[in-house]
Amino acid sequence: MTVAITDDEIARRYPRTEARRAHWFDERPMGPHVLWLAEHLAGGMSLKPGMRVLDLGCGRATSSIFFAEEFGVQVWAADLWIKPTENLRRIGAAGLGERVYPISVEAHALPFAEGFFDAIVSLDAYHYFGTNDLYTAEIARLLKPGGQLGIVVPGLTRELDELPAHLEPYWEPAFWSFHSPEWWRRHWDRSGAIGSVTAGLLPDGAALWQRWLELSAEAGVGNEPERAMLAADGGRSLAFTWAVGTVPG
Ligand SMILES: C[S@@+](CC[C@H](N)C(=O)[O-])C[C@H]1O[C@@H](n2cnc3c(N)ncnc32)[C@H](O)[C@@H]1O
Repeated sequence: MTVAITDDEIARRYPRTEARRAHWFDERPMGPHVLWLAEHLAGGMSLKPGMRVLDLGCGRATSSIFFAEEFGVQVWAADLWIKPTENLRRIGAAGLGERVYPISVEAHALPFAEGFFDAIVSLDAYHYFGTNDLYTAEIARLLKPGGQLGIVVPGLTRELDELPAHLEPYWEPAFWSFHSPEWWRRHWDRSGAIGSVTAGLLPDGAALWQRWLELSAEAGVGNEPERAMLAADGGRSLAFTWAVGTVPG
């Protein structure tokens, strides 16, 4: 079951990403289009020139380069699987060597001073480490008072007590790290470390995810099991969840 969104509508919603269309597949994607997620998140945050931003789980640093170019921020492009030397090459090619700093990190042992960042962003990555009850306070310590935490992650339209039958053929245990907006809002609220939390579903998230898988297949970098799962679900359960919160000032 396909849930659809037109390319014109996508271009209207994500003009900064659209302007980069010729480069969407310069690098092998690590998941759904990171720039759609980044552009959506930036719309709900306040990113100002010169701010220090941690892009946690940045993968190939595509979003780090995007935030630096579009908003004039400095970005620490931090990742576990992708080596910083590889990301430095991309950052250098974008002419951002003085403003985007690649670094190898493990999210549970971040080598930064408390209160260092104005903002922490994480795209399609925070669910790998951020669902732990103790993690929110740990990450919030790296933010200045008034600093912002913003994520977009694969998520659920609502929490699942049981796995729906239509998802059984495709489900992996790791997918239980996908959660609804209400789950993330409560998770951050309960930490006591993040205030004024807002969370929601990325509008037409399932349709965007499906469209990205089609485009990826056309570019020869498709993910057939994921495409089949999204098609079987048809937007019933799988979605993208975003959440933004601020450290009390
Ligand atoms: C699906 S990829 C997404 C990468 C990138 N944000 C994007 O959307 O293209 C998830 C990323 O999370 C990072 N990650 C997973 N667990 C991590 C951890 N414990 N510490 C730091 N990064 C982690 C991986 O290195 C990987 O690059």
